[in-house]
Amino acid sequence: FSLKAYNTFGIDVKAKFFVQVQTVDELSEILKRDGFHQKFILGGGSNMLLTTDIDALVIHIAIKGITVISQTDEHAMIKVMAGENWHETVLWCLERGYGGLENMSLIPGNTGTAPVQNIGAYGAELKDCFVSCEAINRITQELHHFSKDDCKFGYRESYFKNEGKDKYIITSVTFKLTKKNHKLNTSYGAIEQELTKHNISNPTIKEVSNAVINIRNSKLPDPKDLGNSGSFFKNPVIDHDTFNRFSQDNPQAPFYKISDTQYKIPAGWLIEQCGFKGKRFGDAGVHEKQALVLVNYGNATGKEILELANTIVASVKQRFNIKIGPEVNLIK
Ligand code: EPU
Repeated sequence: FSLKAYNTFGIDVKAKFFVQVQTVDELSEILKRDGFHQKFILGGGSNMLLTTDIDALVIHIAIKGITVISQTDEHAMIKVMAGENWHETVLWCLERGYGGLENMSLIPGNTGTAPVQNIGAYGAELKDCFVSCEAINRITQELHHFSKDDCKFGYRESYFKNEGKDKYIITSVTFKLTKKNHKLNTSYGAIEQELTKHNISNPTIKEVSNAVINIRNSKLPDPKDLGNSGSFFKNPVIDHDTFNRFSQDNPQAPFYKISDTQYKIPAGWLIEQCGFKGKRFGDAGVHEKQALVLVNYGNATGKEILELANTIVASVKQRFNIKIGPEVNLIK
């Protein structure tokens, strides 16, 4: 069974067995079944690089549903099942006037996998609106409730990426959203510019979403046209001494100060400086408008993309003595 249509990189690897589940009970049943030693969980396939055939039962999570579970005049609590597409969830909320997710418009993938890497964009992160999630234990099939603290969110990090890796499958996520007095977050330079361009000074949540959609469309390739997984690398976080050395050598480099001791450097800038932006090696390439994004021009294999990624990591290390690492999940 080819997984090409099930991963946004469009990598053509085969799954030994494939099943799609539409309810939590179905998922629980499949997990219980003996006979298959290995099970591989697939959500939106938007944050992985498949480099080899999957010698396992691939379980595609297609559990749907969005419900308002409670509300006041000010807030709505919504529960979203794991198989809902993330951007459709954002639009569903905007149509009903619920604010909080608008800066994260158009991020590829499903809602159930969004907490795993605490998705974020343009000054917002999933954790800002996150209340809790439910996840099924892969061994016991028990449904666990995870509070925000339990999830240990960080920059593109969570419990599910670390201690909880391969232990749980998220089945639903609950968010607390605003119905009025929305906390708009338009301080990110690109959003401000986009709103000014359209003469919008008092944006609605829908207008902020539209601004984000325009910015993303101008910089990031649509996986439907060009296979990709969004940012392939994380922006490296470096300590004070490393930063001082780095900024002396590279006074023009952009950076974000996270704390008195930590600085984040845009990996896209480092990669561009190394000359990779827009470069193509066979069908594997570095996007022409955002060097953080690796792309598949058609028939690249996962191994070819991985090889390009390794070359980039080595080049950045050699030039800047900074180690960048992948944001996407490498399936080897
Ligand atoms: N830059 C370059 N060259 C490039 C790309 C970026 O010089 O090819 C510079 C830009 O000029 C800018 C800085 O790097 O000064 C930051 O660029 P940008 O605003 O595009 O953001 P980013 O740090 O590269 C992060 C996220 C994106 C998210 C944007 C906007 C990570 C790994 N990536 O990228 O997330 O959309 O901020 O908030 O944190 C994703 O995770 O898949 C993703 C697309």
